[in-house]
Amino acid sequence: MGTIIDGKALSKSIRKELKEEVTRLQEQSNKAPHLVVVLVGEDPASQSYVRAKNRACERIGIKSTIIEKDDSITQTELIDLVESLNRDKAVHGILVQLPLPDHIDDNTIIDTINQSKDVDGFHPLNIAALQIGTPGVLPATPKGIMTMLESVGVELKGKKALVVGRSNIVGKPVAQLLLRQHATVTIAHSRTQDLKKECLEADVLIAAAGRAKMITGDMIKPGATVIDVGVNRVDDKLIGDVDFEAAKEKAAHITPVPGGVGPMTIASLLQNTVECFMNIENLK
Ligand code: GUN
Repeated sequence: MGTIIDGKALSKSIRKELKEEVTRLQEQSNKAPHLVVVLVGEDPASQSYVRAKNRACERIGIKSTIIEKDDSITQTELIDLVESLNRDKAVHGILVQLPLPDHIDDNTIIDTINQSKDVDGFHPLNIAALQIGTPGVLPATPKGIMTMLESVGVELKGKKALVVGRSNIVGKPVAQLLLRQHATVTIAHSRTQDLKKECLEADVLIAAAGRAKMITGDMIKPGATVIDVGVNRVDDKLIGDVDFEAAKEKAAHITPVPGGVGPMTIASLLQNTVECFMNIENLK
């Protein structure tokens, strides 16, 4: 049976260290990092994510403001709001919660966020930096995944890594980070012909497709490391993309849902906010 990578505990220790760091920076600069989260509409999942982010910030001394807008807001009005936050010297991080209503183009809004305040790491310049390997803000979920792999000392060099899912938020950026650590990376998706075959070859499997229990126990290579990014709500319960009970019998390391990737995404967002604050205020 594999060991469970406890994202909740790891996130807690990162948040404890960050709290000390924020206190030190605050004493040094007389300023506190300030994250502004923009929430458009009333999607319950988005509301709950935004509240969790807000709470996590406040607990470690990051000032957090939620700006809620009705989903009748126009794209131009939202661009104006983001531009005013770009100009505001008292704001160090801007996060526009996705998805946005259909009449607003996500990419246009992300392009508007100043790269240095882009705590999500979604701006094209941050994506380019990720691809090239130059300094930039890393997307929170992929960053949290890499921190988890590092925490259990998983060797990536020369290993086969399979990413199931090709989203801009998780699949594509985590593939880049695995490549940076010298893994041989494959990205599988809905049109992949033999997913089981690809999975059985993977030393590291990242499941980020958004389908409950799509990765079954017989798809896991014995001794593999399995990271489950899935958050599927089934009968009011959170279920991962991996059949955890079956997969943990085969894997060497595996993340649970909940308590795995989710808390690490929040920890990484906090790290990114502190990083943006330090860069903008020129702090060390
Ligand atoms: N919606 C789901 N995940 C995310 C995220 O990481 N950032 C933003 N901005 N929106 C999201």
